[in-house]
Amino acid sequence: MLDINSVRKEFPILKKKIRGKPLCYLDNGASAQKPKVVIDTISKGYQSEYANVHRGLHFLSNLATDKFESVRDKIKNFLGAKDDKEIVFTSGSTEGINLVAYSWARNNLKKDDEILLSIAEHHSNIVPWHFLREKIGVKLKWIEPREDGSINADDVINSIGSDTKLITITHMSNVLGSVVDVKKICRIARNKQIVTLIDGSQSIVHMPINVSELCCDFFVFTGHKLYGPSASGAIYINQNRFDEMEPFLGGGSMINFVGKENITYNKAPHKFEAGTPAIIPIIGLGAAIDFVLSIGQENIVEYENRLIKYAKDRLYNLDFLNFQGISIDKGGIFSFTMKGNKLHPHDIATIVDQNGVAVRAGHHCAQPLMDHLGLSATCRASLALYNNEDDIDQLIDSLNFTSSLVS
Ligand code: ALA
Repeated sequence: MLDINSVRKEFPILKKKIRGKPLCYLDNGASAQKPKVVIDTISKGYQSEYANVHRGLHFLSNLATDKFESVRDKIKNFLGAKDDKEIVFTSGSTEGINLVAYSWARNNLKKDDEILLSIAEHHSNIVPWHFLREKIGVKLKWIEPREDGSINADDVINSIGSDTKLITITHMSNVLGSVVDVKKICRIARNKQIVTLIDGSQSIVHMPINVSELCCDFFVFTGHKLYGPSASGAIYINQNRFDEMEPFLGGGSMINFVGKENITYNKAPHKFEAGTPAIIPIIGLGAAIDFVLSIGQENIVEYENRLIKYAKDRLYNLDFLNFQGISIDKGGIFSFTMKGNKLHPHDIATIVDQNGVAVRAGHHCAQPLMDHLGLSATCRASLALYNNEDDIDQLIDSLNFTSSLVS
């Protein structure tokens, strides 16, 4: 069982007061706060363990390389992949998805091939496919959420056509909080030789992931939402796809030999990791994964489910709000607007901020979804493992105060 008071003590920033009020940090969907062990790992890395990796023969380079490469193994286990070489370090989900678009899709898709994606994707899982639409004429086929905001696996599966070559879909919507049954989708897709990419940016924070069970070809995530440093992340690439993939970025590390007239490439994963990587952020990501595992992912799921229920019971009673995404299987992401548009989401976020409450407002990099919902923006409160009932109460009080200003 998760001891919330002990967990909160691990996050130094939670002691902070904002305008004299306790910090109520509910913007975790955008980026999570860091535990002390991650901060200390970064500090120690730069103070006493830093050098470039893979290149040097000296003590510090070997030390940094060992620490860096050990994270690859850690992520392999964390994701349930079969082999270290299936883990490629990235700066985050955006780079991972672009890697798939450039290294795999540009070489394997042709005009009129179809890419299936949900309308609730983050722009990072839309824009690279628009590039491909513009460049080679692939077609984008959009799956709409149901009335309750759920993104139904059967709706995705039933949209598969003879031209569908790639399904690229979020595991958990960053706006609706809906969790998608990607295992069902990927298993059907694999039988039909359709390639699958799962955006795990939000899901990986809240549930254990096993890419082997999911049967996906690609799985991306970002470190900064997983209590790790920004500019850290990774992509799982099923090794069956390696032969179909060209390099992504060109530079150091990704080559085997460079001549004046010819070039040969390194093997995966290094083939996809050009240049000096984010050495210390990746090592920090390793510390974040250790931290999550030390708490226990089952404990996190159990604790967060209780907190989500507490939040739902109170938030859904605020009759001046409309909620977007109310499916039963949703995670701890609450998007809302004020009934009658009495206040813009930006105004709500600014007012609750006066009471120390940090929420995000805007289109959340999901403009096709906003268009589908007929909105330009929502306010979003997103939970992490260190939030508690006091945070929910502080949010509710602040929203009630906000409403009182316009009633
Ligand atoms: N993708 C992040 C969010 O949803 C930035 O806020």
